[in-house]
Amino acid sequence: MKLKLVAAGVLLAFGLGAHAAPLIIKYSHVVADVTPKGQAALKFKELAEKKLAGKVEIQVFPNSQLFGDGKEMEALLLGDVQILAPSLAKFGKYTKQIQIFDLPFLFDDIHAVDRFQASPAGQGLLNSMEKKGIKGFGFLHNGMKQLSANKPLGMPSDAKGLKFRIQPSDVLEAQFNAVGGNPQKLAFAEVYQALQTGVVDGTENPWSNIYSKKFHEVQKYIMDSNHGVLDYMVIGNAKWWAGLPPDIQKGLTEAMTESIKFGNKVAFDEDMAFRKKVVDDNKAKVLPMNKEQTAAWRAAMKPVWSKFEGDIGKDLIDAALKANK
Ligand code: LMR
Repeated sequence: MKLKLVAAGVLLAFGLGAHAAPLIIKYSHVVADVTPKGQAALKFKELAEKKLAGKVEIQVFPNSQLFGDGKEMEALLLGDVQILAPSLAKFGKYTKQIQIFDLPFLFDDIHAVDRFQASPAGQGLLNSMEKKGIKGFGFLHNGMKQLSANKPLGMPSDAKGLKFRIQPSDVLEAQFNAVGGNPQKLAFAEVYQALQTGVVDGTENPWSNIYSKKFHEVQKYIMDSNHGVLDYMVIGNAKWWAGLPPDIQKGLTEAMTESIKFGNKVAFDEDMAFRKKVVDDNKAKVLPMNKEQTAAWRAAMKPVWSKFEGDIGKDLIDAALKANK
């Protein structure tokens, strides 16, 4: 009996000790460490562990190591991971409004995207999934997308009959249907192989993803199309967040804000450096698009806007257009 009591005491002591152990927070994403998102996640770890020394341990899982993008949202809602930063193209199931970011040729450039995200209309989207259990911490940039295939895509008619890998977005599906392409929704982790084996003929992604996942090694041509944006929302499980002590929330919020700023700076500063690495590798040919070509692509894809206007809201589209200067 005495022994049992001692054992219970030891367990209790361990239990109390465990209480003081750092809170483990898993941050999972699908891209490489060198990308804006990869760097933002690592910066978040560094800052959070500094601000909340001994109180939190941030475990970052890049490259779909923990969850691929087919599973990560479910895992977040189940509490198997606490923080994610999915592409804005991956929220269609949870909010129709966020589909706005996939509309082709809506934003002139990443600075316009930045202005819209910072506007009241853009900031409102961060809370749009709270009822579904998703807390939005902030937007994070990657960059403008570039079209690629094994033939030059100078004109929209060049895309006819080609299979394009897309993110799981109905807007992106409509975008490629609009030019006679055959879009296929595939997880990010499957893209390289799908391109290599010819499961798909082409795709679209920003320079940092193209370079770090070597898509340029399995595509013959990449157009400087800048026809749309691929950005992220950093999100957390809303219930988990609400249950955190105020000091932890404060430290994590500060670390999150600073890490997003850092990631955005990487996105602004390094987009062209990633493009240069692709050009220097000399595996795919990077082709410019002239004004006529851009106008033709824009005209072919623009009908997608009205198709989704009902879901997204005209006011929101107008607010986004205002961000172009
Ligand atoms: C993609 O699936 O192409 C992107 O969303 C990957 C990412 O997270 O940048």
